[in-house]
This record gives sequence, C-alpha cells and structure tokens, in this order.
Amino acid sequence: MLGFGVDIGGSGIKGCVVDLDRGELQGERVRIETPQPAMPQAVYAVVSEVVSAFEWTGRVGVTFPGVLKHGVAHTAANVDKSWLGTDVAQGLDAVLPDGVQTLNDADAAGLAEMRYGAGRDKRGVVLMLTFGTGIGSALFTDGVLVPNTEFGHIQVDGEDGERRASASAREREDLSYPEWAKRVDRYLDVLEAGVWPDLIIVGGGVSKKSHKWVPLLSTRTPVVPAQLLNDAGIVGAALAAEERIGQ
Ligand code: BGC
Repeated sequence: MLGFGVDIGGSGIKGCVVDLDRGELQGERVRIETPQPAMPQAVYAVVSEVVSAFEWTGRVGVTFPGVLKHGVAHTAANVDKSWLGTDVAQGLDAVLPDGVQTLNDADAAGLAEMRYGAGRDKRGVVLMLTFGTGIGSALFTDGVLVPNTEFGHIQVDGEDGERRASASAREREDLSYPEWAKRVDRYLDVLEAGVWPDLIIVGGGVSKKSHKWVPLLSTRTPVVPAQLLNDAGIVGAALAAEERIGQ
C-alpha cells in the first residue's frame, strides 16, 4: 500500500510517496527550501508543490515542528511566530483537497521508528527523541502514541533543554562529540527524573554518527539509534494519514 508524507522543517520541506508495507520511500524524495519568512500561506504553497510533483491524489500526512491540537498550532519554538493559533489542518485542506492529516514532526518520526525501525515490536514505554534544530519527543506506551510531549523544553540548569543539547547547539558552539555528549547526558539525567521509559531511541541527523556519542551516555535507560534516519518524518506522516493518527 502506498501513502504520501510531507515533513515541514525550518530549512526544507520534503515529501515523497511511501511504501507503507516496507516503511520506505518509493523513489526519490522532493525537497524544496522552506520559504523565508516561513509564514503559513507560503509554506502551504510549497507543500502543495511537493505533492503535485508526484501527481499524488489521496490523503497526505503533514508534519509540523510544534504542538498541534485539532490541527491548530499552539507552539512555534523554531518557526515564525505567526503560526501560533493558526489552523494548519484547515489551511492545508484548502490546497490538498483529498484529505490531510497533521501531526507533530517528532511524533511522526516516532511512529515510523515504532512501526518499521528501532522500536519495532517494542512494548512498554518507549521514548523517541529527535536531535536537530530543537529536540523533539514522542512517547509510546505499548506502541500507542501519547501525542505532543514537548520534552525538548524541560528546564535543565535554568535553560531550555534543547537550547544546550540540540544538534544545532553542537554546531553553533562548535562542540566536539564528547563535549556535546556531556550536554546530552545532563539533559537525559533531568529527563529521567521525570519519566521512566524502557527504551530511548535517538534520531535526527546526528543519529548517523551515534557511535561517537551514544556510548558516552550514562543513562539508566538503554539508548539505541534510530534506523530510518532522514526519512522517518516523511514515512511517519504517510503512516499517520493512512491510519488517521495525529492531531
Ligand atoms: C518543538 C517540537 C518539535 C521539535 C523538533 C521543538 O522546539 O517544540 O514541537 O517537535 O522542536 O522540531
């Protein structure tokens, strides 16, 4: 079975047809630069362009990098503040008439990992964290998503967790992997005071280099790298559209 997913990110908007039996992209994805400023109408137009590039008709799953409740954006930590209070689902419906399912980007990546990747067949409490511009989180209990957890914003030593421990903090401050691993370790230490998962899956671009930092972590919870890497958001969005999971 085929589906279609679009991942809205701060720098690029990426989409592709997805083979939902295998959890893989069907062919090459299309990536278009996120318009700057990334205002809602301009972003909807790009999402529609990505979908039309495949001549796709059918439901489309679309991720958003913030809290969405009933399609409405409630946070906008790393995107233009004009998204706050915007009905994203309705805005996308206008350009994608065959139906849209919206959901948080990390929730989408987590769904994909749970179905096809590192979380496959894992029961109990599983926490997926994506390290990118921010830190996204997706929490699962026996494979069922608890939507809109925002663990990137827990307070760590008086600062927003993602401010110090995201992948962009590593780049911005030019930290070595061991230096950055210490930040991630401290972040996870605070997180583990509040949640007791059975497994933590770490995703985002830095999961490709997981051997450089995951072994340095001292968490009580086992930590494994994500398996779908860059495609998790697109695959998870398509899955969410098919199964009508999301917000
Ligand atoms: C946002 C989350 C998002 C994460 C990754 C955070 O700043 O608050 O909603 O999932 O970044 O994009």
